[in-house]
Amino acid sequence: MGQEIDLLDLYPRSKRPIDERGALATDENKRIAKQFGQQYFDGDRMFGYGGYSYQERFWKDTVRRFRDHYRLTENARILDVGCAKGFMMYDFKKLMPQAHIEGVDISTYAKENAVETMKPFIHVGNAKKLPFQDNSFDLVICINTVHNLKLDECKLALRELQRVSGGKAFLTVDAWRNEKEHQNMLKWNLTAETYMHADDWKKLFAETGYQGDYFWFIAQ
Ligand SMILES: C[S@@+](CC[C@H](N)C(=O)[O-])C[C@H]1O[C@@H](n2cnc3c(N)ncnc32)[C@H](O)[C@@H]1O
Repeated sequence: MGQEIDLLDLYPRSKRPIDERGALATDENKRIAKQFGQQYFDGDRMFGYGGYSYQERFWKDTVRRFRDHYRLTENARILDVGCAKGFMMYDFKKLMPQAHIEGVDISTYAKENAVETMKPFIHVGNAKKLPFQDNSFDLVICINTVHNLKLDECKLALRELQRVSGGKAFLTVDAWRNEKEHQNMLKWNLTAETYMHADDWKKLFAETGYQGDYFWFIAQ
């Protein structure tokens, strides 16, 4: 079993307008958000990010944190599942120019609007079926992505993360640890289909054989 560890602790935090978002998270807005198209990334905030653009301060310190924590060698093979526009991939490549970095994302829009140099390494596909051989990466990262699948498919995705990583993986998923966080998540969520108490996620990891590390996206 992997370790519960916050490897995103250097990622810049911002105060989330949870009540405001709760009022806007209608079924129709969720339907649009779940298409993971232009509206989700670069449309109005009620559909998702409200503008998803590269900023060095987001991932620069975090990729260093991953490299050091997992003691990655300079030619490591790294996969980002749910890579969106390839921002984290790009910062990994800047930090580790010899590394082999690939990404998978379900969004054609994200790939088309990705960092130019990362486009050839982004595969449009689904986390539930990854186009890679068993144990073919030194580190697989999956930030806030597998919870977008319904439970059965989410289980497939966890198995796939385990398969291609051999357990050398880190993921984050929507979760809560108390009732306040639970209520906040219900307001904040636009796209997730599978979200639960942190303890229940741990049971799901055990059930699916996911042995990588993990942490939570908490709405707070
Ligand atoms: C919350 S965003 C996170 C993006 C990026 N990992 C980050 O932290 O900035 C979720 C991403 O998962 C992608 N996604 C959603 N469902 C997916 C699936 N089934 N397989 C692969 N990618 C998926 C979306 O297109 C989106 O880029």
